[in-house]
Amino acid sequence: MAKAPHSLFARVYDLFMVPNDRFGLRHQRERLCADATGRVLEIAIGTGLNIPHYEKADLIVGIDNHRGMLRRAIRRTWESNAPVDLVAADARQLPFPDGSFDTVVVGFSLCTIPDPAAVLDEMARVAKADGSLRFLEHVRSPRPRTARVQDRFHPVWERVSGGCRANQDTEQILRESPWKVEDIWRSDTGGLIQGSATL
Ligand SMILES: C[S@@+](CC[C@H](N)C(=O)[O-])C[C@H]1O[C@@H](n2cnc3c(N)ncnc32)[C@H](O)[C@@H]1O
Repeated sequence: MAKAPHSLFARVYDLFMVPNDRFGLRHQRERLCADATGRVLEIAIGTGLNIPHYEKADLIVGIDNHRGMLRRAIRRTWESNAPVDLVAADARQLPFPDGSFDTVVVGFSLCTIPDPAAVLDEMARVAKADGSLRFLEHVRSPRPRTARVQDRFHPVWERVSGGCRANQDTEQILRESPWKVEDIWRSDTGGLIQGSATL
């Protein structure tokens, strides 16, 4: 279970993200969660910023390996439209049987969790055969100039952000996973993607 390496990050995460949500990301989070139905698993739920945006879920199970983040997420469970279970777990070894969830959701986390390919495999294992994945991730931009900025920014950012890899080609990793991307939206800079995938 992660403790010290990014406890500072846990403390200041909401300080950075809540204003970001107010001025833009909120809409993205709403889209991420809007069509998550049935039994929903959110990978690396962090401080639970998505929790208020689930409208069609019957149950939300949120996992994270950082107890500080989960403690903050508890405070947001009262804003939920559905029951929420928060579980301390490593996304690379999910403590759930095969085929347990209708929808798997991941946001801003495949960049941080080590071995994102293994995480995508685990998500596929615990999803039902007709289940879906909904994702919102920052990625390496296909634009060379933006990607070069990401490369320069990466070493510092990784140290202050709890291991986030600013220049990781998460879209490529996703496309090489068991998930088939069904629809995808890219920001103007190409540094943010959002969409859904099926098995
Ligand atoms: C940038 S935060 C994103 C939090 C949340 N998904 C959001 O949208 O605000 C990344 C999260 O990944 C979690 N994380 C990192 N490695 C993990 C692992 N191996 N298993 C589970 N969670 C992990 C961190 O604790 C952190 O909460």
